[in-house]
Amino acid sequence: MSSPSNTQRGQFITFEGIDGSGKSTQVRSLEARLSASGRTVLRTREPGGSPGAEDIRRLLVEGDPEKWSPETELLLFTAARRDHLEKTIEPALTKGEVVISDRFADSTRIYQGATRGDLRPMVDELHRLMIGREPDLTIIIDMDPQAALTRGLARGSGEDRFEDFGLPFQKALRDGFLKLAQEFPERCVIIDGNHPVETVEEAVWRAVSPRL
Ligand code: TYD
Repeated sequence: MSSPSNTQRGQFITFEGIDGSGKSTQVRSLEARLSASGRTVLRTREPGGSPGAEDIRRLLVEGDPEKWSPETELLLFTAARRDHLEKTIEPALTKGEVVISDRFADSTRIYQGATRGDLRPMVDELHRLMIGREPDLTIIIDMDPQAALTRGLARGSGEDRFEDFGLPFQKALRDGFLKLAQEFPERCVIIDGNHPVETVEEAVWRAVSPRL
């Protein structure tokens, strides 16, 4: 007889939010909780998540904020996502695993689509042509932009090309994510990230557990 984890349907969960929103911590906590409950979990991230996409990540997140035009940047993010989907996400979902990704296509809709000129129609067209998949559930960690920015820069990871754009940019991103939740209400849940980590973890679990 096959084990329950082999007969369960794969689930694709994404986390979104502005830089420094605490989503990466929440991704790891959810991974631990789901693993403890007996699910096989694949934790991944964007940009990156497969060897080829990690190579593209380095081109994107390091260096001068003005390095790429918005259009070139969109193509690089889409190329990275396509590789991530082919090599990492789809194979795991086929095996019935839970895939948790720290960012996915919604980040492109907001970062490239809504904040760098109005590239959203181009973002949507490329998504339709090259990606064509939405998550089963998207957790948006909502966070005060000033607090998030202070946190993000304090990390000093060297991957601060986007954080370099400053507070007005972070505010526009936050508004974009909140609007996105209205655009895709069936899969998006907004969670208030301005609370202790454990409180946010509980809220995430309340959103995820009924859907498994
Ligand atoms: P990430 O590693 O998630 O950074 P952080 O941990 O600070 O949230 O993502 C790197 C940066 O790339 C981040 O500033 C968001 C940006 N980004 C886009 O602009 N478009 C995208 O499609 C993705 C996935 C990320």
